[in-house]
Amino acid sequence: MDPNAYRLLMRQQAGAVTIIAVGNAGNRTGLTATAVCSLTDAPPTLLVCVNRTASAHSPIRETRTFSVNLLARDQMPLAMSFSGKVGLEGEARFLAEEWTTLTTGAPVLKNALASIDCELADEHGFDTHSIFIGRVRDGCTRDGADPLIYFRGTFCDLRAFDK
Ligand SMILES: Cc1cc2nc3c(=O)[nH]c(=O)nc-3n(C[C@H](O)[C@H](O)[C@H](O)COP(=O)(O)O)c2cc1C
Repeated sequence: MDPNAYRLLMRQQAGAVTIIAVGNAGNRTGLTATAVCSLTDAPPTLLVCVNRTASAHSPIRETRTFSVNLLARDQMPLAMSFSGKVGLEGEARFLAEEWTTLTTGAPVLKNALASIDCELADEHGFDTHSIFIGRVRDGCTRDGADPLIYFRGTFCDLRAFDK
């Protein structure tokens, strides 16, 4: 199938917007990602699909840790920043919000809907991307906030679907 036709199909999939973050303070990077999925809860494991060209790709392999941060609807500027759309790179993307660490030492976003702290358990390469499988070591949540969603090429929140 033609890739443009495929993209038109996938635009119809509403996705939770996340930031995958990696590195140590002073040397952090990360990317906005929707290709994130739970794999199993026994043991707690998820997978993320990361383009080989992303600045986070090598650090995930090197540190063997990463976090997945589910964004709330008020965190769209962060999604823009970590998708490279506002010209910030690496550590500069982390300055706008508060970050901390949990068990693995990967950076986790303090005010995310949920922050999931992972150790790299396995990886599979496929053409342009790597599928990184993360064993979940820790996590925290923020109650009462709505998710940020990516749908038909734009960021939106659940209010967009109210009739
Ligand atoms: C809504 C949205 C979802 C994205 N999902 C992914 C994804 O799942 N995996 C990926 O590798 N890149 C994804 N990207 C692209 C990366 O965020 C972007 O290429 C990022 O700038 C790469 O990081 P770098 O600039 O540090 O290399 C997505 C971008 C947007 C706007």
